[in-house]
Amino acid sequence: MKKTVRDIDVNGKKVLVRCDFNVPQDENGNITDNRRIVAALDTIKYLIENNAKVILCSHLGRPKGEFKPEFSLKPVADELSKLLGKEVKLSKDVVGEDSVKLSNDLKEGEVMLLENVRFEAGETENDEELSKKFASLAEVYVNDAFGTAHRAHSSTTGVASYLPAVSGFLIEKELKFLGSALENPERPFVAILGGKKVSDKIGVINSLLEKVDTLLIGGAMAYTFFKAQGYGVGNSICEEDKLDLALELMQKAKDKGVKMLLPIDTRVGKEFDPNTENKNVDWTNIPDGWEGFDIGSKTIELYKEELKKAKTVIWNGPVGLFEFDIFAKGTNEIAKTLAELDAVKIIGGGDSAAAVEKAGLASKFTHVSTGGGASLEFLEGKKLPGIEALQDK
Ligand code: 3PG
Repeated sequence: MKKTVRDIDVNGKKVLVRCDFNVPQDENGNITDNRRIVAALDTIKYLIENNAKVILCSHLGRPKGEFKPEFSLKPVADELSKLLGKEVKLSKDVVGEDSVKLSNDLKEGEVMLLENVRFEAGETENDEELSKKFASLAEVYVNDAFGTAHRAHSSTTGVASYLPAVSGFLIEKELKFLGSALENPERPFVAILGGKKVSDKIGVINSLLEKVDTLLIGGAMAYTFFKAQGYGVGNSICEEDKLDLALELMQKAKDKGVKMLLPIDTRVGKEFDPNTENKNVDWTNIPDGWEGFDIGSKTIELYKEELKKAKTVIWNGPVGLFEFDIFAKGTNEIAKTLAELDAVKIIGGGDSAAAVEKAGLASKFTHVSTGGGASLEFLEGKKLPGIEALQDK
């Protein structure tokens, strides 16, 4: 168990809080999804109420070590000011003159934001000098950036060597829900995995096969499993070099007594186009020249039946190309079934979180992780460096 902000005195102290404000923006820089900012508010408000001087920091995108205006955190500072109902000043630099001055001028209960930490070249290299500079801005370090906890960078791990380092409430909550689902699930425990590539999900499939009762496979990675069993997949995405691996994973499921289900039919389209001609076909019968983009109607019914038996569900990765309405049915039907289910229901972040949000069903889930890559690595059973670096209770 890691210490949290509750376990440390923050009264009157300068507190550096690493958040994950890596939020999507439209071409005009408007934030299109503020969930990661909203998710950080509990910790920030707690610090304000406890008279801390709050110095927030985050990355946005991958500016590769230099100032680029399109990666400025200005829109985030504005959104935070709105959500908190008080001004959040943005420093002109990351650890330079301006951030030192602004942080020294902070009064108790005030909040500022450093410019994008990835404007500093040393950030992603976990540079020691940069870590020390971050530390010199504050007296306490709080990591609440669950979405970036799988990165060993200066502002996520390096800085923790030079200050008392604890977690914020978001990291605490993510660990509570993701951790207890994996360690102590009420059974039946069902996982649904989607996504494009088997290669991206090998680690998580392997790890979940040790824990779940049922594993439902969707998304484009299903076609690699079809091909591995000797069937044609038309133009569907398929990893030719992962066919043996697909068979090994199916065998492992058998050996472990896990019910691993693959789609029994699929919706195929002529082209990658939101209005393309499309039809439902059997999984053994994908015609040449067609590409699979969603699970089919029989699979939807089959998966719904399995889900209805579940007491714990983890879902990572949409089961189809949900961005196109004609191929969103599988993902939407899974989301609706889960929304109505009386069970612990966890969305393991990334695109599946975006899918339930798009369907307006996010509030019906026990927990929607703010991590994409981080939650995947957590589900794989990997240690996350941003969390490891924090003090134990
Ligand atoms: C994410 O969006 O997954 C995190 O913010 C991490 O971003 P990164 O992949 O650029 O490190």
